[in-house]
Amino acid sequence: MATNRTFTMIKPDAVEAGNIGGILRMIEEGGFKIVAMKYVQLSAQIAGKFYEVHSARPFYGELCEYMSSGPIVAAILEKENAVADFRNLIGATNPAEAAEGTIRKIYAKSIAANAVHGSDSDENAQIEGSFFFSQFERF
Ligand code: CMP
Repeated sequence: MATNRTFTMIKPDAVEAGNIGGILRMIEEGGFKIVAMKYVQLSAQIAGKFYEVHSARPFYGELCEYMSSGPIVAAILEKENAVADFRNLIGATNPAEAAEGTIRKIYAKSIAANAVHGSDSDENAQIEGSFFFSQFERF
């Protein structure tokens, strides 16, 4: 069910720093089940499509360039109340404002290189998961 799933990406800064394992451990210890996962490098064009909702923002160009600068790990996660609980686990977008013990507080370098993405709604979790995974891969 969409309400029990969210979508995440471990971003290029965290992959480059060797933090995939640490972040996946926090995700699993947070009670999330990884139900789909892949390691890929996005083109700037594909990153732009994924983040199209931000295309009017001043940081859009930087965001697309950064998200295509190295490999990422994309995953679909399952848990009761997945979207809200995952946003609590990762912390605020800006790591300077992220709560102690959150993934971004521990691993993020800056607001752009903020270690992980997490969907902001059930609807976007479904859209974003479908962007990376076919139905066959998700079930
Ligand atoms: P994410 O949760 O992946 O969703 C959109 C991303 O845009 C966000 O995380 C940040 O990495 C990035 N972002 C948001 N605000 C800024 C900003 N002011 N400057 C650069 N990047 C930003």
